[in-house]
Amino acid sequence: MANKVKVDLGNNSYNITMIEDFKDSVKRFASSTESQCMLITQENIFDLYKNQFNDLSNISNVNIFLIDEGEKAKSFDSTISIVNEMADKRFDRSSLVLAIGGGVVGDIAGFAASIYMRGVKYIQYPTTLLAMVDSSIGGKTGINLEDGKNLVGRIYQPIAVEIDTNFLSTLPKRELNAALAEVVKYGFIYDREFFDYIVNNISEINNRNLDVIQEVITQCCEIKSDIVSEDENEDELRMILNFGHTIGHAIESFTKYEELLHGEAIFYGMKCALYLSNKFGDLNNDDYKQSCQLLSKFDLPSLKIDNKDIFINFVKNDKKFRGENIRFILLDEIGKSRISEDISFDQIKESLSTL
Ligand SMILES: NC(=O)c1ccc[n+]([C@@H]2O[C@H](COP(=O)([O-])OP(=O)(O)OC[C@H]3O[C@@H](n4cnc5c(N)ncnc54)[C@H](O)[C@@H]3O)[C@@H](O)[C@H]2O)c1
Repeated sequence: MANKVKVDLGNNSYNITMIEDFKDSVKRFASSTESQCMLITQENIFDLYKNQFNDLSNISNVNIFLIDEGEKAKSFDSTISIVNEMADKRFDRSSLVLAIGGGVVGDIAGFAASIYMRGVKYIQYPTTLLAMVDSSIGGKTGINLEDGKNLVGRIYQPIAVEIDTNFLSTLPKRELNAALAEVVKYGFIYDREFFDYIVNNISEINNRNLDVIQEVITQCCEIKSDIVSEDENEDELRMILNFGHTIGHAIESFTKYEELLHGEAIFYGMKCALYLSNKFGDLNNDDYKQSCQLLSKFDLPSLKIDNKDIFINFVKNDKKFRGENIRFILLDEIGKSRISEDISFDQIKESLSTL
C-alpha cells in the first residue's frame, strides 16, 4: 500500500503521508524552523493523548492552544484569540501552525494560518476519520456565521497532511460510522472499483479492521487528491464532492444540527440523490439497487421529516443556490457523476419518500 499521496497543485503541491507516530512528525517540523510553532487542538484530544502532548509542550518553540468543541469553535472570536496569541508570542512569517484534530480544528487552524501575516505555513494532523478522508485535504478553511456554516473562509493549502491512524482507536464508534458516508461517496461519484472494494469489505470496515481502514483512507486520499488537483477552486469537477450534500445540509439545518452528525445527514442525502439519479437521470435499476443495498448496511439514527414544505425551504435557503438554479449532483452510473441543473424542488420533495 502506498504510504504517500501527492496533491498536485504546482507550487502549492504537498504530500499526504501515512505516519506511525504524530509526535515524531511534530518534533521534525518543529526542528525545521527557528521560529515558533502553534499546535492547535481540543481539550478532549489533549486529554486522550496527554503524555504525547506534554512531551511536545517541553519543546522550546512549541506552544499548545486549545479551542472549544463543536461548530461554535469555528468563529471569528476563536480566530482572533489564535492570531492574538501568535502575535503575543512573536510569531513571524516562518512560524508554523499544526492542526491536530478533526474537521473543526483543521478548518479554523487553516483559516488562522491563512490570515496571520497574510499567510504562514500549516500542517494538518487529522484525528477523525472524516478529517483523514476529506476535510484535511484540499485547503478549504473557514469559520461559521450566524447565517450559515463555512460562510467565511479561504482556499489555503497546507504544506503537508500527516495521517496517524492510531488516533482512530479513541474515536467514538458513531463518529467513525458517520464518516463512512464520505468514504462511500467517493465510490459512488468517482470509482466503481473502490465501490466494489467497500461492498466486499463492509464487515471488516464496520469492525474497524485497521488494515482495511488504512487501505480505505489511502484510496479516499487518492480520489480527493485527483479531484482537487484538477479543480482546486471548485469551478466544476470539485462540485461532485457535494453528492448527497444538498439534501444532507438541509437535513442538518431542519434538525437544528442537534439530532444527526454531518455524515449521518449525508447518508440520508445520498439516499435521496440516488433516487433522483434513478428516477430522473441515467442511473440504471441494477446500480440503484446495489447502491441502496450498500447504504442499508450502515446504522443510522431515525429521521422524521413531518413537514416536507418546511423542509424544502431549507433546501431553497442554501446560500450556494440563492437566486440560481439548483446545481444537483447525480450519478449516471456507480463511479460516474455529473452536475445537473434539471432537478426541481418538487422532485426533491418526492425523493424524501425514500427516507
Ligand atoms: N475543509 C473541508 O474540506 C471540510 C470537509 C468536510 C467537513 N468539514 C468540516 O469538518 C467539521 C466536522 O469535522 P469532524 O467530523 O472531524 O468533527 P469534529 O472536528 O467536531 O470532531 C468530532 C468530535 O470528535 C472529537 N475527536 C477528534 N478526534 C478524536 C479522536 N482521535 N479520539 C476521540 N475523539 C476525537 C472531537 O474533539 C469532536 O468532539 C465541520 O465543521 C465541517 O464543516 C470541512
